[in-house]
Amino acid sequence: STVDWDVAGAERGDHDHFLAKEIAEQPRAIERTLSGRLEERFSTAHLGGLNMDVREARAFRRVTILGCGSAWFAGELGAQLIEDLARMPAHAEPASEFRYRNPVVEPDTLYVAVSQSGETVDTLAAVQELQRKGARVIGIVNVVGSTIARQVDGGIYLHAGPEMSVASTKSFTSTVVAFALLALHLGRMRDLSPSDGGRIVAGLAALPGQIEQILDDEKRTGVIAAAAAELAPSESVLYIGRRHGWAVAKEGAQKLKEISYCHAEAYAAAELKHGPLALVGPELPTVAVVPDDDLAEKNTSTLAEIRARRGPVVAVGHREIPGAGRTLVVPRSEPELDPVLLSIPLQLLAYHAAVALDRDVDRPRNLAKSVTVE
Ligand code: G6P
Repeated sequence: STVDWDVAGAERGDHDHFLAKEIAEQPRAIERTLSGRLEERFSTAHLGGLNMDVREARAFRRVTILGCGSAWFAGELGAQLIEDLARMPAHAEPASEFRYRNPVVEPDTLYVAVSQSGETVDTLAAVQELQRKGARVIGIVNVVGSTIARQVDGGIYLHAGPEMSVASTKSFTSTVVAFALLALHLGRMRDLSPSDGGRIVAGLAALPGQIEQILDDEKRTGVIAAAAAELAPSESVLYIGRRHGWAVAKEGAQKLKEISYCHAEAYAAAELKHGPLALVGPELPTVAVVPDDDLAEKNTSTLAEIRARRGPVVAVGHREIPGAGRTLVVPRSEPELDPVLLSIPLQLLAYHAAVALDRDVDRPRNLAKSVTVE
C-alpha cells in the first residue's frame, strides 16, 4: 500500500531508490551471509542449519537446484561452484518447469530450493512435490520464517537484510556466496584439498572489500553510468559469456529487461555463430563478460567477430579489453568466485539505464517482488 511505501521511503537514506541502496549494501549483506560460517582452521564452511551429518552429506552423489527468476540464475552459478569445488554433478532449472515434468527423484540427489522471499509459489510447489517423493530438500532463503524456509528440511539463511526493490541484487550475490559455502562444505568432505579450501575461504572473506572498491571506483569515475547512457536508447542488447560468465550474462540481461524495459538476451558466447551473430551490427550492442581466466583467448576471438561486424561492445573484466568501447573493470577474485564481482557492474549498468530512461526503478510495471500466484 501507499502508506507502507512512504514508511519504507524513509529508509532509503541517501539513495534515490531502494535498488541503489541495496546495490550499495552488498558488502554488508555478504559479510552477514559469511558471518560465523568460515572455518579457517579447517579450510571449510560451517553450516549448522543444514541438519545433515557428515555421513548423510557424503552420501549425496549429485545436486539439483530449483528457483525462479534471479534465484534460478544464482542457482546456475551455484551449480558451477558445486561442480568445481565438490566435483559433484550439479544443475539448476526453473522451479516452475520442474514441477510440470514428472521428474525422476532419486535418494542420492540433494535438492536445493532458492528463494529470496521464501514465498514464490512455483518454488514452494516444487519443494512439496519433491518431499512427497521422499527427497531431501534444503533451502537457500533470505526471509526468516517464510513459507519455503519452514517447508524445507534444512538450509542456509542469507541474512542479507530486507530487499524492497523488485529486482534482486544483494540477495542474488548473497545467494552465490551461500552456494560457495555449500560447495566448500561438500567439497572438503570429498576431494577438495586443504590448500584449495583455504584459497576459497580467503577469497570469500575478501569479497566485501572488493565490492566496496567497485562501488567506490564507480563513484569516482562514473564509467558504468556513462556506458549505461550509451546503451539505454538501444532497442535490444546482447549479453554474452562463457561458462560462469554465461550465467552472469543471464542475470545481467534479466536486470536490464526488468527495470529499463529494454530487450536483452543472454547467449553462451560460443553459440553466437549458431544464430545471433546474424543480428550483430552497429544497432545491436553486446555486453561481454570476459574475465581474465583460462578462456580469455576464446573470448577475445568472439569479440573480434563482433567488432568485425561493427557491433558496439561493453566488456566486463579484469583489465581494459582491446576493441571494447568501454571496459567495466573489477578486481580479481579466485576464479571460482569471480562471478560475484563481475555481476556488480551489470547491476549498476541496468540501474543507470533505467534511471536514464526515467523508469519506475523499484517497482517495474507488470512485475511483483514475490509471485504467490501461478
Ligand atoms: C519475482 C521477482 C524476481 C525474483 C523472482 C524469484 O519474479 O520479480 O526478482 O527473482 O520472483 O523470487 P524469490 O523470492 O523466490 O527469490
